[in-house]
Amino acid sequence: LAATWATPAWSQAAGKKLVIGFAQTGAESEWRTANTDSVKAAAQAAGYELKFSDAQQKQENQIKAIRSFIAQKVDVIILAPLVTTGWDTVLKEAKAAKIPVILESRNVVVKDPSTWTTFVGSDFVEEGRRAAQWLLGHTKNTTGTVNIVELQGTVGSDPAIERKKGFEEVLKAHPRYKIIRSQTADFTRAKGKEVMEAFLKAEGKKINVLYAHNDDMAIGAIQAIEEAGLKPAKDILVIGVDAVKGAFEAMIAGKMNVSVECNPLLGPQLMEAAAKAAAGQQLPRWIKSIEGVFPAEVAAKEFPNRKY
Ligand code: AHR
Repeated sequence: LAATWATPAWSQAAGKKLVIGFAQTGAESEWRTANTDSVKAAAQAAGYELKFSDAQQKQENQIKAIRSFIAQKVDVIILAPLVTTGWDTVLKEAKAAKIPVILESRNVVVKDPSTWTTFVGSDFVEEGRRAAQWLLGHTKNTTGTVNIVELQGTVGSDPAIERKKGFEEVLKAHPRYKIIRSQTADFTRAKGKEVMEAFLKAEGKKINVLYAHNDDMAIGAIQAIEEAGLKPAKDILVIGVDAVKGAFEAMIAGKMNVSVECNPLLGPQLMEAAAKAAAGQQLPRWIKSIEGVFPAEVAAKEFPNRKY
């Protein structure tokens, strides 16, 4: 989808100033902040009114926000669902009020998929596969068991479930790669550090690899690794997801090995989808982001081009 902001043709086609309610998860990570900024900037550029709600990582706050958007009769609701389940009732209410709901950055599992219009976001299973493929490539000249610890994202969230699935799917065919510990750290730096400390206490030097479902948790864990007297990216390989600036800084400093990209800059695609949904147009079920993989070797060269 085009992201030119001078005169977005689809915005004129809709022919009115849309009012959009955006139920965001919170501000748990660098990625999420970039995502919020992108949606706000794109709404402003399109001349739309955006009602923004930060749910502070609580599903009940998101449900409340959706109900309030319905009561305010917004034209479109954008939902970044914290977790996959528990949305059936409120999405039915939005459908009954004839307000299209666009999912962004995370998907849902509901009985009636006609209660949401489209999902704008990444292929998280593929991100997990890419992380595992990088690990296989990077360790191909080694022998023996490779012990992996995994920091999972928010329990029950789409990216946590799928990044785990994609990673395990690739490693299944390579039995010397073993996930010896796997626990949630809720996508935050503070918990990433805390859970990594516990992993290090339990497994110590046995750990060869850290796979974190996002860069913030990886960055928190790097601190724990250093405080345990070990060298991140050397004694323990560090793999993250998102490719935020913080990860590039860690890679340039030689403390992180790779970050699998997950693009948060979904604002332009969301505004285009919102205009089309409000105009009653049919949308594809999934508007996918295009993403890459950034190993430490390219970090310094790529850093100036990064937008988040
Ligand atoms: O839904 C995308 C995920 O949510 C990002 O990878 C993570 O950093 C964020 O909090």
